[in-house]
Amino acid sequence: MNTVTNVSECRQAITAARKSGKSIGFVPTMGGLHEGHASLIRRSRDAGDFVVVSIFVNPTQFGAGEDFSRYPRPIENDAALCRSSGCSLLFNPEVSEIYPPGDETRVRPGRLADGMCGPFRPGHFEGVCTVVARLFNIVQPDTAYFGQKDAQQAVIIRRMVADLRFPTRIEVCPIVREPDGLAMSTRNAYLSPEQRKQAASLYRGLRTGQELIQRGERNAGKVVFAIRAVLDDAGPSHIDYIAVVDPETLAEQDEISPPVMIALAVRLEGARLIDNLIVTK
Ligand code: PAF
Repeated sequence: MNTVTNVSECRQAITAARKSGKSIGFVPTMGGLHEGHASLIRRSRDAGDFVVVSIFVNPTQFGAGEDFSRYPRPIENDAALCRSSGCSLLFNPEVSEIYPPGDETRVRPGRLADGMCGPFRPGHFEGVCTVVARLFNIVQPDTAYFGQKDAQQAVIIRRMVADLRFPTRIEVCPIVREPDGLAMSTRNAYLSPEQRKQAASLYRGLRTGQELIQRGERNAGKVVFAIRAVLDDAGPSHIDYIAVVDPETLAEQDEISPPVMIALAVRLEGARLIDNLIVTK
């Protein structure tokens, strides 16, 4: 595995790989890597790609007062995980490499960013689209791999790729969970042991909602109410939202018509966690 920090080295390495007949797979990350990221890297490796992983904590997707400065940056561990999972090229740029002096261009998503996390994180998805567009332009991947945990992000990026005519296929890979169901996330590192136990209630809540829908409940309000009860029962938290949405359009459903996605965002002191589950019938 080679590591590069600037755009021209990155492009050179990728051009050489492409000339040798390799497809280019891309896993964009902000580091703080875990099994979820490893599963994306392995997926790209198993597809036979020349696997490019970026580690870049993107300042434009963090709001004022969010965790940009304390976001984990364990670069040695991250590089080891990349290597052992099958990464070919690690791109680890400085902020000025992605946002050069005088930078002012942004990619603004549309209505897909209006619901769910959008109102709670103003500007977040604009920052995500902006950095992903820049990274795609540098890497020019054939396939880019994203995790289903960030479901809204994945839908918005699919839209952006279609709208901006990027020649990149987006593959969204399943959520990787801890044994108690907690979705793997870099931000789980912020949780105290007590909060960590409480955090398992997110998945329990989603499963409760899934069971209700599978038993025939079609009233989204009732499903949300039952999930809220599971979360409340586990201890104090601040629920940003619990939503039942169409998995593709993200439109909220009052009357449930599967397939639907149940999605939620919960703040435990110091950590904002998101999770979702798709219910097919
Ligand atoms: O999902 C993430 O880690 C980030 O939002 C991404 C896609 C790497 C953009 O910074």
